[in-house]
Amino acid sequence: MNVLGISGTPRENGNSDILLGYALKPFRENGWGVQHIRLREITVQPCRACEECKIKGECVIEDDMHLIYDALRWCDALFISTPVYSRNVSSRVMAVLDRSYALNNKRLLKGKVGGAIAVGRGTCGGQTITINAIYNWMLSSGVICVPGELNGVTAVASEPGDILKQEKRLRQAEILGENVLNVALKLRS
Ligand SMILES: Cc1cc2nc3c(=O)[nH]c(=O)nc-3n(C[C@H](O)[C@H](O)[C@H](O)COP(=O)(O)O)c2cc1C
Repeated sequence: MNVLGISGTPRENGNSDILLGYALKPFRENGWGVQHIRLREITVQPCRACEECKIKGECVIEDDMHLIYDALRWCDALFISTPVYSRNVSSRVMAVLDRSYALNNKRLLKGKVGGAIAVGRGTCGGQTITINAIYNWMLSSGVICVPGELNGVTAVASEPGDILKQEKRLRQAEILGENVLNVALKLRS
């Protein structure tokens, strides 16, 4: 079985990306195929609202989003991690969510299992709003949303790598991974 992690931070060693790595750990340990896609390393343009995907069945913009379309088809489980920007997902993540519109007719994500991670600098900086935005997108795409210890994983951190000092959050990311893995296995059996 296969898992996809999409990381929306533009920063090397970003806190949300580190947490995603911890969420993917249980999958690596259990022999799953793992893709960890960092949006800062690829180019995904915003949706142009041309609606050509409705006619052609696929997006006509030629960029790296096609790697993500392939990975979304390939995976059984999926994580989205993002820094909190303006109390929401980063623009890189939003571009991916919008461009997934091209898949919606086919309902390709239906029945897959998902988890979300959001890191902001502020206490009550919009982490919950951001997790909700991701889980709402997942639900509207037919993805089965799985909680972590409480919700998805939310955290407060500022400089790159700061989250490594927060053992509890690192463990919570692993727990989210374990929960997503277990639900995916149960659904399969
Ligand atoms: C453009 C921008 C907008 C931001 N907006 C928020 C915000 O609304 N709430 C918040 O708590 N932090 C905000 N932050 C801080 C980041 O969420 C924070 O630094 C976080 O650690 C980034 O995650 P990363 O380490 O994975 O890049 C913002 C940062 C930037 C650059």
